[in-house]
Amino acid sequence: MSMRRQVSVWALGLTAAFLLTSCGKPKPSLYDTSLPVMEVMDHLIDPGAWAFWRASGEVTEEAGTKSLTPTTEEGWLAAENGAVAVAEGGNLMLLPGRVRDEEWIRLAKKLTQDGLEAKAAAEAKDSDRMFVAGAEMYKTCKACHAKYVPALQPGAEPVGAPLPDWPEDVKQKQDQFLEGKK
Ligand code: HEC
Repeated sequence: MSMRRQVSVWALGLTAAFLLTSCGKPKPSLYDTSLPVMEVMDHLIDPGAWAFWRASGEVTEEAGTKSLTPTTEEGWLAAENGAVAVAEGGNLMLLPGRVRDEEWIRLAKKLTQDGLEAKAAAEAKDSDRMFVAGAEMYKTCKACHAKYVPALQPGAEPVGAPLPDWPEDVKQKQDQFLEGKK
């Protein structure tokens, strides 16, 4: 056996040994994704989004229209905290085992973008920008649920807790809009 050949046989053996050991012992995952997506939604993304929505737009009550724009530093901070939970929540949907397909990836990334824009709007204390950011975020929630939550597929029977309805201020704007059309 030539020297060169001997070396390559040896290298082949080493590669095989490496492959065997790396197959036998799977590398422990960097992530612990034992919480189901439902739990991440209910305890992180949903409260985050609501903290933000509660701080943007306005509500119309009997006494008149009331702005939801925060009036205290804590109020602004709560909105910003919520936006960050949404932004990072998008990343959590991309952890191994959670990704479903290309569309899922697109929507999860969109959620992160929406959360970042929401954070920037709250940081700038710009209530108009917050309202737009909140609406954009809401569209992303709805788009993903329409596609991936089986209970929301056409013809499905509703199961479990209902998904969040439109934020109150958005709903009122829609009602006003519809009233105006009559
Ligand atoms: C990338 C896709 C995706 C995005 C974006 C997304 N969700 Fe979800 N959401 C899901 C899936 C999937 C479920 C259902 C999980 C299950 O059934 O196991 C769910 C479930 C929920 C639930 C639980 C409903 C219940 O029956 O308890 C809430 C609340 C929720 N999402 C809120 C939100 C909010 C608020 C947003 C936007 C800020 C959002 N989600 C964005 C995929 C998404």
